[in-house]
Amino acid sequence: MARVLVTGSSQGLGLDAARRLADAGHRVVVHARNDRRATDARSALPGAEAVVVGDLTSLEEVRAVARQANALGRFDAVIHNAAVGDQEPRRVETVDGFAHTFAVNVLAPYLLTALLAPPDRLVYLSSRLHRSGQPGFDDLQWQHRPWDGGQAYSDSKLFVVALAFAVARRWPAVRSNALEPGWVPTRMGGPSAPDDLALGSVTQVWLAVSPDPAADVTASYFYHQAPRNVHPATRSVELQEELLDRCARWTGATLPPPPGRPA
Ligand SMILES: NC(=O)c1ccc[n+]([C@@H]2O[C@H](COP(=O)([O-])OP(=O)(O)OC[C@H]3O[C@@H](n4cnc5c(N)ncnc54)[C@H](OP(=O)(O)O)[C@@H]3O)[C@@H](O)[C@H]2O)c1
Repeated sequence: MARVLVTGSSQGLGLDAARRLADAGHRVVVHARNDRRATDARSALPGAEAVVVGDLTSLEEVRAVARQANALGRFDAVIHNAAVGDQEPRRVETVDGFAHTFAVNVLAPYLLTALLAPPDRLVYLSSRLHRSGQPGFDDLQWQHRPWDGGQAYSDSKLFVVALAFAVARRWPAVRSNALEPGWVPTRMGGPSAPDDLALGSVTQVWLAVSPDPAADVTASYFYHQAPRNVHPATRSVELQEELLDRCARWTGATLPPPPGRPA
């Protein structure tokens, strides 16, 4: 049985994935933004091994999440699920001076990846909207452009795919993949989302723990357990390296050297 950390698991697809893992007998650590949401997560999933707490808009709190998680021991898999959506009405500047969508959706998974003991498998939640993302680095923090929450979300989901592929390339012993869960009726997806909610957490769990050879891959992108095409820019080594460089500068944490191949 595997030990898995799921970020943003006090509700929505993160909670669904955590529940699916626990029901299958895996050990699950859930993550919530604060103590109140941690209580919600505990009561939603009493079988969780532990809850780690931290608001991902703050780099200091992301570091605290990594410390709490590392103190619990190494994970077999981490599902980077937490995100804010495409309906954010305005740019909120984080305590560290970043646009909140970028901070939660890109910087937080980067920093957790850099600080957590490398697991065997990394899974990053993206979206079909990543294909509308702009792969450039100009005004990434929306300081000069008028705010467009949909574009900020699409960009962030493009960059998180590039992050998954960058980690796959830097860490050949780790399976690092991304996926889109479908447009499903969570709080983020909204009540009229047309896709099946029950299927929305299947692929990330499969990528995290399944012995299926189709899940034992790296630098791949999925929808409903089948490979899907990605925005071609996410495959650009130049873009991946620039993203890693910027995230390292902004967070003060570089991606550690590659861990050894698991036995
Ligand atoms: N639903 C869809 O149709 C859809 C489509 C494509 C991709 N996705 C992706 O699927 C993933 C899960 O989405 P969802 O639909 O389950 O969204 P959701 O219901 O809004 O849940 C998002 C989760 O992330 C957490 N979170 C957000 N900001 C946080 C922060 N600053 N610190 C800590 N935790 C934070 C939330 O905590 P709180 O509850 O405390 O806010 C919640 O647990 C996301 O990566 C999303 O981009 C969803």
